Amino acid sequence: MRDHFEIRDHDAAGRIGELTVPRAGVTVETPALLPVINPNIETIDPSRLRSEFGADMLITNSYIIRTTEDVRERALEDGLHDMLGFDGAIMTDSGSFQLAEYGEIDTTTTEILEFQRDIGSDVGTPVDIPTPPDASREQAASDLDVTRQALADAEAVDVGDMLVNAPVQGSTYPDLREQAGREAAATDLDVFPVGAVVPMMNSYRYDDMVDAVAAAKRGLAEDCPVHLFGAGHPMMFALAVALGCDLFDSAAYALMARDGRYLTVSGTEQLEDLDYLPCSCPICHEYTPDELRAVDADEQEALLAEHNLHVTFEELRRVKQAIRDGDLLELVEKRARGHPAMADGYRALLDHADQLERIDSASKGTFFGLSHESARRPEVRRHHDRLARLSVPDSLLCTEYGTPSEHDYDEVWRVVPPFGPFPRALSETYPLTAEVPDRTDAAAERAAAEGIRALVEANPGTEVTLAHEGWDADALGAVPESVTLENLHADADRADADTHAGGDADSPEADADEPAESRSESE
Ligand code: GUN
Ligand code: ZN
Repeated sequence: MRDHFEIRDHDAAGRIGELTVPRAGVTVETPALLPVINPNIETIDPSRLRSEFGADMLITNSYIIRTTEDVRERALEDGLHDMLGFDGAIMTDSGSFQLAEYGEIDTTTTEILEFQRDIGSDVGTPVDIPTPPDASREQAASDLDVTRQALADAEAVDVGDMLVNAPVQGSTYPDLREQAGREAAATDLDVFPVGAVVPMMNSYRYDDMVDAVAAAKRGLAEDCPVHLFGAGHPMMFALAVALGCDLFDSAAYALMARDGRYLTVSGTEQLEDLDYLPCSCPICHEYTPDELRAVDADEQEALLAEHNLHVTFEELRRVKQAIRDGDLLELVEKRARGHPAMADGYRALLDHADQLERIDSASKGTFFGLSHESARRPEVRRHHDRLARLSVPDSLLCTEYGTPSEHDYDEVWRVVPPFGPFPRALSETYPLTAEVPDRTDAAAERAAAEGIRALVEANPGTEVTLAHEGWDADALGAVPESVTLENLHADADRADADTHAGGDADSPEADADEPAESRSESE
C-alpha cells in the first residue's frame, strides 16, 4: 500500500487524489499540473506560480542545474526552493530527456539522485531510457533492461524522505508497457511517470498515447500516482485524466509562447491570426490582440506564457469539477470535437472501455449521449453485462414507446438506444436516466440491438418482441433471429410496419419526466 497517495473521487479511470510530498511538507491535489521551470531561462517568476496560478508543484531539470556551474553552486548552497523562490513541492528530472535528444549524458542514476537529494528536490528521477515510438522491439526491450536497472539503482540510494519516480517505458509495445508498469509498481519507488510520449504528442498521435498509457495502467496498481511525462497541452487533459493520469508537466506554455502561440482548450492559435481573444484571464482581459502584437518580443513572450498557464490551470479545474460531477467522459467527448487527433484519442479510449468499466463508479451524473461515439462508452457496456443478470419472464415486449394499453406479454420493458432494454423499475438509476438525442443514430441503435442480444443469450427460453422506431438495417441485423420485430414507425411503405404504433400512438404513457424519453407524443 502506497500511503502517500489517496484517491478521493473517481470518474471513468480518472480520479481526484492527494499526493503527500513529505520533504516539501505539502499535499498536492491531483490531477495536478507542474509548470516546467528552466533554471537558465526565466519565462515566469516561479514565486508567482503558487499564489497567482495555484501551482503547488513545479518541475525543473537537475541535469541542466548540475551542468551549469554557477546554478549548480547556488542550488547546492541555497537549496532549490530558495534558489527558485518557490515554497511548494519541487520535482526534478534526471537528464534522460537530454539523453534521448543528444544520445549521451555524463551521469548515472546513483550520482544524479544523490545530487537531486543534495539540492533539496522533493521528488527525484533516475536515468531511464525514453525509447521513442516505433523503435524496434529489440531496442525497446533492451532499453527497458537499462531502465529496470536504473530503478533498482534508485532503490539502493539513500534518498531520505525524497520521493522517487519510477518511469514506465516500452515504446509502442503495449505488452512491454504493461510489463514495465508491473515491475515499476513492484519497486518501493513512489511516483510512476509514463515516459517517451512527447514524440507522440508532438506528432498528434493521441491514439498511440492512449494505448501506451492504457497498457502502462494495466501493469500499475490502482494506488500508484501516474505522471504523464511532458504532457502539458490543455486540450488533452480530460482524455489523459480519464485514462487515469494524475500529474502533468507543461513546458508547452513557455515553448509555445516563444513562438508567438496562444493555447486554447481545443488547440493552438498563432497570435498573428487572432482578431479576438476567446479568454478572460488577466492578460486577455487587459490586452487586445493588436496591443499584444505591439509589445516587444520578450514582453510578448512573457504575456503569452501567462495566458497559456491560465488556460492550462483553468482546464485542469474544469476536469476536476467534471470528476466531482461524474461527467468527465462528456468533457472528453467535447474536447474530442476540437481536433481530429483528439477524436482519434477518444476513439482509442473507447477501445479500452472494458478497462475503464472495471474502475468507473457505477453511479454518477446524467449520461449525455453527445455523438455516435457515446454508444461505445463503458456505461453502455456495463448495462449490457447487467442485462444478463436480470430476471426475465416467459414473454417480454421490449419497446421504444409507451406500454400498449392492452397486451398479452408477461412484462413490458423500455428500450432506449444506446443502452437497449431495461425494466421500468431501473429507469431512475444511472445510466438509464440518460439524456439522449431525439434523433437516434445508427450506432446507438446498433448498441441497443446488442443489448437485446445480451438479454436473449442469457435467457434463451424467453420469447422476446422488439418494438422499434424504424431502426437501421445494420442494427436490426444484430438482433437475434428468435426475436419478433415490430416497427413502430407507421410507415405504410415498410413491409414490416405493424399496427402496433397506430393503435398505441393515441395513448402513449403520458409520463412527462420519464427518463430517457426520446419521442414526442405526437409522433
Ligand atoms: N520528460 C519527458 N519524457 C520523459 C521521459 O520519458 N523520461 C524522463 N526522465 N523525462 C522525460
Ligand atoms: Zn487569456
